[in-house]
Formats: sequence, structure tokens, C-alpha cells
Amino acid sequence: LRPLPLDTPNLPPMLPGGLPFVGHAAELRSNPVAMVQRGRDMFGDIFCVRLPGTLGVVMTGHAAQEKYFRFRDDEVSQREAYQLMTPVFGKGIAYDAEPQIMKEQLGFFHGALRESRLRTYTDGFIAESEHFFGQWGDTGEVNMLEVGNEVTLYTSTRCLLGDKMRFKLSREFSELYADLEGGINVISFFAPYLPLPAMRRRDKARVKMVELIEKIVAERRLDPEGHEDILQTLVESSYADGRKLTVDEITGLILTIMFAGHHTSGVTFSWIAVLLAQHPHIFRRLVAEQREILGDRERITYDDLQKMKLLEGTIKEALRLYPPIILVMRRVLKAFEFQGKHVPEGSMIIASPAVGHRVPDVFPEPHRFDPDRYLAGREEDKRWPYGHIAFGAGRHRCMGIVFAQLQLRALWSHLLRNFELDMLDPSYPVDYTNLIAGPRPPCRIRYRRIAKPSAGA
Ligand code: HEM
Repeated sequence: LRPLPLDTPNLPPMLPGGLPFVGHAAELRSNPVAMVQRGRDMFGDIFCVRLPGTLGVVMTGHAAQEKYFRFRDDEVSQREAYQLMTPVFGKGIAYDAEPQIMKEQLGFFHGALRESRLRTYTDGFIAESEHFFGQWGDTGEVNMLEVGNEVTLYTSTRCLLGDKMRFKLSREFSELYADLEGGINVISFFAPYLPLPAMRRRDKARVKMVELIEKIVAERRLDPEGHEDILQTLVESSYADGRKLTVDEITGLILTIMFAGHHTSGVTFSWIAVLLAQHPHIFRRLVAEQREILGDRERITYDDLQKMKLLEGTIKEALRLYPPIILVMRRVLKAFEFQGKHVPEGSMIIASPAVGHRVPDVFPEPHRFDPDRYLAGREEDKRWPYGHIAFGAGRHRCMGIVFAQLQLRALWSHLLRNFELDMLDPSYPVDYTNLIAGPRPPCRIRYRRIAKPSAGA
């Protein structure tokens, strides 16, 4: 482990506590949000923590977040901060690629996420909502975290590999995906290639995933017509120098988008359930919004989803209170000054959506669930462009914002029109044991299907 540059003049203040060798890593692992909040309460917008081999510099509050998200790629690097993803995404893919290549690779997603494609995916979200929730009984108890992760796995498979593959492949795909996920944990953050069983399973799963995608790509080459999914976009894409993507790169990019968008959407789905069960008056207003937009129509469309402003605000507010990505990181390539403090090259800068979203100067009454914050007249998210950072901000802002909103709106529109929900647990604490923070299992909710008025009634 490298010695930390603790004798650097004018370093931001150091958070008290921590253990020999591992520093604040144990506290960061058990409750990162409490740790960041503790530092903010003591020192304000910028302070240091000791991490194994790295000086961490935590930046929260609007000014600090603006500074953080405006850095260029030659000033701070995501590549070194997110090395733990390389065994999954692959060598030379996404964060492991040179910034220019990563930019080209992410650029392929622009085509896959353009509006005409989003309309097709939305049809898939709507069909999946009807199919998935159509299998629920008249009443029952469910773990909403499991439901969120399962239903978004099916929607993701549809968008990535096509509707047919959703039914044919989702089991095989989800088993491999689970093994890949199992190899990403706090240990892999510091040592991604340790020969542990979970890491071996992860590596085997990636090889099998490439084989699986290879088979589908071969079929596509024989029958290239009529595929409107992300895989097809990647098959048809080429780099600026004309080179086509290899199957390994296609697989890596499919996994990149899957890891970026699946659990993040799944846990947000479950937080919305928790918040609506806790706030029945908002639930009622959302049901009224559905009626106002759809009347008696059962089948919804992309254009209907665009009109659901209160539902949009509810999703934004769930993401503000419970952002699935609680911390983002960058390695400092060029030392910089902020608020008179010196941040040395080599340190890891950390921003925290979870803490930044509860700064009262930016979001008044920050602990209150208030979906009206985003509606015309208030628009608190627009007043502070670096305030709501659930999707990040600046040059590396999430590419899936519209996709995630449409998916969550389609799923929730269906639930609002067909079910009532009740809480079964007195509280739903945040679970920090996973990299994507959701409600701690079992996250039980009781649902009851709403009786539809019979025809002619
Ligand atoms: C980047 C959050 C859904 C694709 C990011 C970042 C955050 C984020 C915080 C920035 C990370 C950083 O600055 O280090 C979320 C949340 C989601 C979500 C909370 C759901 C509720 C999606 C979906 C997709 C997606 C559905 C794709 C369909 C991406 C990509 C990037 C990204 C490609 C990298 C952008 C870049 O580095 O230029 N996301 N995301 N995300 N997200 Fe999402």
C-alpha cells in the first residue's frame, strides 16, 4: 500500500476516527452515507478520509458538486476509480478503455437510445408490465425488491436482445448475470483479480456470456432484418477508423449497459413502492392522474407516459431521497484547489448523491417526500443544476435517464391502474451491503387487485 500524502500543505481537514491500515474503509463499508454526513456536519463541503492506499477527498454541497462534475477527463479519471468493473466489462472496454475509445464506445449507445428506439422499448415495457403483473393473484404479499429486480431484468433482456429472447433466454442470461454480479464487491474494489471462488465464477460466466452472444450474433448475420434492440445497434456499429466491434466488445458493452441500468432501475422501482405505501395521499393523486390522462383506456402509449408529470416527479423524488448510486468516484490526475484547500494528484475524489440530495439550501425540507418539487412553478431540480445528481452530471451524466424514466413510468402506470398497496413492515431501512443501495430485504408489500367495473356498469 502506498503511503498517503498526509503531509501535503493545506490539505482538506481529516475526518476523525478510522482504524490502522484500513483507515475509514470499515465505516465506508458499513454505512457510507452516515460517514459522509458526519464529515459534512463537521467540516462542510470538503474533507478527507483515509482509504487503503488512497487518500479520499469527499466533496458535497452544490458548489463542490459543480466543481466535481465539471472536471475534464484529463484532470480526473473514472478509469482508475472503476477498475473493479474490468473483469466483467472486459479489457479495453468502457472504463478500461482510453478516454477517446470509451467515448466512441458509449457513443454507440446514442443510436440505441434515440427516440425512435425508445418508442419500441416502451412497447416492450408496457407488454412486460401486462405480462408480469398479469400473473399476480387478486391479493398477495411480495418482496418489492425482488419484484423490481426481476421485472427490470425482463425489460432489459427485451431491449438488449429482443422480445423473442426475453422468453427464450432470460433464465440462462440471468444465471450468468448473477455470477457476474457476485464477483463485484468491496474486495474486488481493492483487488479485482484475487483467486476467490466468487471471482472464478465471475470469470467463467463472462466466457459463457461471450459464447451466448456469439451465437445470437451469428444468427443475426444470417437474418439481419427487423431487429430493433441494443444488440443490433452494436452489431451494425463501427469505430471511427471503420473497424467493426468484436463479439467480446459487443458482450462487454451489453454488460456495461446492463450493469448501469438494471439494478439502479430495479431498486428505484422498489423505493417508489415503499414511498407510496407510506404516503397514500400521493398514491391517490397518482391514480387520479392516470384517470385524467387515460380515461377508460386500458392500453397506454409512449405519448401517454410523457404526460404523467406527477409520476415523473415521484420517480425523481424517490431518486433524490434514495439514490441507488450513493457515491461516485474519480482519481485526481492534476492537483487542484477548492475553497482554499489543496487536493493532491493521486487522491480519490468522492461525491455523494445520497448526502448532496439532503442539503437544505438546495432542497428545502430535504427529508420530506414531496414530488411537487419538480412541477412547473417550483422546479427545484432546475434551479440548482448540480443539486439532483442521482444520474450524475456533466460530461459523464447517465445516458439512460429517459430510458429509466419511461421504464419506471410504464411499470408504475400499470400498478397504479390495477392495484392497491399496503406496507407490511414498520420501516424500510437502506441496505448498504450492495454497491447499489436498495431497501433492506424482505421489503414486503401487500397488494390487492382493484376490481374493474364490469362492462356496461
Ligand atoms: C452513468 C445513475 C439507469 C446507462 C451513470 C451515472 C450515474 C447513473 C450516477 C454517473 C456515474 C459517474 O459519474 O461516475 C443511474 C440511475 C439509473 C440509471 C440512478 C436508474 C434509475 C441507466 C440506464 C442506462 C444507463 C437504464 C442505459 C440504458 C448509463 C451509462 C453511463 C451512466 C452508459 C455512463 C455515462 C458516461 O460515463 O459518459 N448512471 N443510471 N443508466 N449510465 Fe446510468
